[in-house]
Amino acid sequence: MANHKTKLAVFCSGSGSNFRALHFAIEERNLPAEIVLCLSNRSECGAMAFAVQHGIETLHLSEKQFDGTEAFASAMLDALHSRAIEYVLLAGYLRKVPAAVIEAYALKMLNIHPALLPAYGGPGMYGINVHKAVLEAGEKNSGATVHYVDAEYDKGPILLQRTVPVEPDDTPESLAERVLECEHALYPDALEKLLDGNGS
Ligand code: GRF
Repeated sequence: MANHKTKLAVFCSGSGSNFRALHFAIEERNLPAEIVLCLSNRSECGAMAFAVQHGIETLHLSEKQFDGTEAFASAMLDALHSRAIEYVLLAGYLRKVPAAVIEAYALKMLNIHPALLPAYGGPGMYGINVHKAVLEAGEKNSGATVHYVDAEYDKGPILLQRTVPVEPDDTPESLAERVLECEHALYPDALEKLLDGNGS
């Protein structure tokens, strides 16, 4: 369809630097997509503030507001379906997405992870823990991965991956910084690949 803009929702919990990178890349690369919703489990965070500043609708949705996972999942699905969201991009979303939502968005939900999956993924592997584990193992390379989200944590099919060399004097923090920089180019590249129809 000419001029169709793919409707995206971005899920965040923190600073939202990947969300920002996606937003600016859509503008700069003139991608046929539009972030129509920023959903967060936190009412206040960098991502939500950025969305407000840029006229993107925000939605604070937390399991605590609901009587159980089923009600939470159904509110999340309503929020996505009522806005005709086609793809969900997890960008530093630190909560489990309910299984019913993952199923409804099978091969239509992406996540970015700060390591070369399948290595250094799974429960407990988030934030600085990932980079500490990579350095403790003496790896020569780390990197970032954009993958489809499925029922198994950090195990869905990989869409795009890029290597970041480990420097001899790296600390977990310095490595985290370089990997995050890599993520800011990788996530837009992965989105572009998805929109081009090369994503599966
Ligand atoms: C990134 O390192 C990402 O890989 C992980 O969470 C971090 C999010 O950072 N899933 P930000 O909120 O996008 O700045």
